[in-house]
Amino acid sequence: MSSPIDATTTPAWTALTALRESFSPDLRGWFAADPERVESLTFDLADLRVDLSKNLITPEIRAALVQLAEQTGVAERFAAMLAGEHINTTEDRAVLHTALRRPADASPALVVDGQDVDHDVHAVLDALSAFADRVRSGEWRGVTGKKVTHVVNIGIGGSDLGPVMVYEALKPYGADAGSPRPEAPRSAPAMRGGGVGRVQARFVSNIDPTDIAQKTADLDPETTLFVVASKTFTTLETLTNARLARDWLWEHLAAAGVDVATDEARSDAVAHHFVAVSTALDKVAAFGIDPANAFGFWDWVGGRYSVDSAIGLSLAIALGPDVFRELLAGFHAVDEHVSTTPLERNVPVLMGLLNVWYSNFLGAQSHAVLPYAQQLSRFPAYLQQLTMESNGKSVRWDGTPVTTDTGEVFWGEPGTNGQHAFYQLIHQGTRLIPADFIAVANPAYPLADDGRDVHGLFLANFLAQTKALAFGKTAEEVEAEGTTGALVAARTFPGNRPTTSIFAPALTPAVLGQLIALYEHITFTQGAIWGINSFDQWGVELGKQLALQIAPAIEGDQEAIAAQDPSTRALLAYYREHRD
Ligand code: F6P
Repeated sequence: MSSPIDATTTPAWTALTALRESFSPDLRGWFAADPERVESLTFDLADLRVDLSKNLITPEIRAALVQLAEQTGVAERFAAMLAGEHINTTEDRAVLHTALRRPADASPALVVDGQDVDHDVHAVLDALSAFADRVRSGEWRGVTGKKVTHVVNIGIGGSDLGPVMVYEALKPYGADAGSPRPEAPRSAPAMRGGGVGRVQARFVSNIDPTDIAQKTADLDPETTLFVVASKTFTTLETLTNARLARDWLWEHLAAAGVDVATDEARSDAVAHHFVAVSTALDKVAAFGIDPANAFGFWDWVGGRYSVDSAIGLSLAIALGPDVFRELLAGFHAVDEHVSTTPLERNVPVLMGLLNVWYSNFLGAQSHAVLPYAQQLSRFPAYLQQLTMESNGKSVRWDGTPVTTDTGEVFWGEPGTNGQHAFYQLIHQGTRLIPADFIAVANPAYPLADDGRDVHGLFLANFLAQTKALAFGKTAEEVEAEGTTGALVAARTFPGNRPTTSIFAPALTPAVLGQLIALYEHITFTQGAIWGINSFDQWGVELGKQLALQIAPAIEGDQEAIAAQDPSTRALLAYYREHRD
């Protein structure tokens, strides 16, 4: 792998620096002067309508940003990723999450490092679908012969955030398979049984014992299936929770009068109530889960890029394999767009370039993602891992220091909750916070309040906020309403706060796949421009190592306590003094 091109040495960077020096944002003026602005900055990306017109760019800035992508080789690096080159240099791995959503008959077949990738991906997908169908139909039974009612995914990071986010988003699709399914992609799922499916999912991630205790408290062990999801099958949180779940199963089966007194009976119970997803099938077997009930994936799938791998097993069970496949098709539609669209109209590339403009030239340190869809309540949390674990780096892929700021802080809450919490700062604070607003035309639950469509009211807020952020309210406009004195300044809105609006017909599985892939490729674009490896995560290792060293000190091991720094020793003393 060659050294990265230093973006700051390119002519495009020089041009952007000059544009920044004379930059004076004026969305009111730009819209007034250019009747084509909306059209030239609005794009259709599969089912998504993406309006970039309220961003702080002029045609000159847009052109210079596209040149920056050209001069830093973004398209070449994307092609290298698709072809299976080992662009994850620090782990010497290919990066092939895009292969997880290629159609079975994709041509030419993708063969990487001697592996027939398409064949292997579809073999697992078929096995996963068949297993999900067995659970959903009731053919798969618990140890006492009862059907599964709850699937509990035990995983953390990429083995949790993707599944829980997608489950929350698509829960209305999990309703009884006997109900008519909506026709994708334009219609919304009808409100069916409160969105409760034949098998409900829960997600345990935190090693805080509260998590598993609360999530299992009302479950019936005879009808619960645990999915232990861990790429490495070494993660402390996941293995601890898996052992706690196994103990819970045995204990509660015994309490229900089931014989689990012998090793054989206990193994039998585990075989009926535990399955696993991992790249390390030997470790799955060592845990006591039958390898026949394990679903594999590969080291070329990063944890935060893995929701479309077998890590989505709990989704296939709770939502149905067809929904899972529609999700994958959505991802693929965006992959196709990125591979085939020129940079100047390539939506993820343009959005990544905008982020570079804001962070490297306009000083933005964070980026808000504000879904006007309650079902996307976990989308910001999902994006935090995707973006920040990928691009929170200080060295480039050849080990040299970065030459400019990298990854922004991503955050957000669903509208309108955010409006009543932190929007004040976005509207009138001193910091620039670019924000993505995501909305769907059709709600999952079309309710009316006194004859008024509530979803329409909700979306009026989305439109109002993006309008207020872009165009603000001048002092003259405030005074024209009769306000005087010091209150005028307080009630003035500066505007020129950049937003991107992403609209879709409905939150269908395909639309959700498109949204996730969009952000994957935005993240990719930024990483490529900064010359960083967006696919490793060494920054999480030190804390994991130290936790293992500190664990004996927590238990009172004097040698381990003595080895700590003074602050940690004092905190340990407080803990030991207060722990009952
Ligand atoms: O702590 C970071 C991390 O390695 C993530 O990248 C990953 O998604 C998560 O831990 C869980 O890892 P695993 O799936 O191997 O349990």
